[in-house]
Amino acid sequence: MKRAIYPGSFDPMTLGHLDIIKRASEIFDVLIVSVLNNKEKTPLFSVEERVNILKEATKELPNVEVDSFSGLLINYAAEKDLHIAVRGLRAITDFEYELQLAQVNRLLSKGELDTVFLTTSLEYAYLSSSSVKEIASFGGDISQCVPDFVAQKIYEKFNAKR
Ligand code: PNS
Repeated sequence: MKRAIYPGSFDPMTLGHLDIIKRASEIFDVLIVSVLNNKEKTPLFSVEERVNILKEATKELPNVEVDSFSGLLINYAAEKDLHIAVRGLRAITDFEYELQLAQVNRLLSKGELDTVFLTTSLEYAYLSSSSVKEIASFGGDISQCVPDFVAQKIYEKFNAKR
């Protein structure tokens, strides 16, 4: 069984993330999408909310599991006996950061955790969780960026903040 992990912040999950999840789930037998619990950041959605959004968005994909993790990715991957991480690459601007992350993970794990990259579909190449949040915070249209049920949750968050 080829199992892989797709780690990320997913605050919130976008259609770009969902595209990577769908394509990776066709390559691997099991894909574990795992949300980083980063205590240093102030997220829009709690880890539990992000996990629930991902579960709802992937409910039709039987080989996709959703989880969360804290601390180093290599430790979590070792606990789960996972040796492949999936990441999406949008543009050259992602490359330096992603290369560093992949190299550090390979080094720290002594070669136990490798990273494979999927290039983002062109229609989502411009998308990021932070731009979605910024657009929504000004009441802009995010219907092309996230599933409808996620857009509703994002607007609810910003309305509650007002
Ligand atoms: O969606 P993101 O924020 O680009 O995802 C980044 C993520 C979660 C994959 C990365 O920050 C991560 O794995 N963090 C956990 C801590 C860690 O293992 N860092 C690697 C050494 S620098």
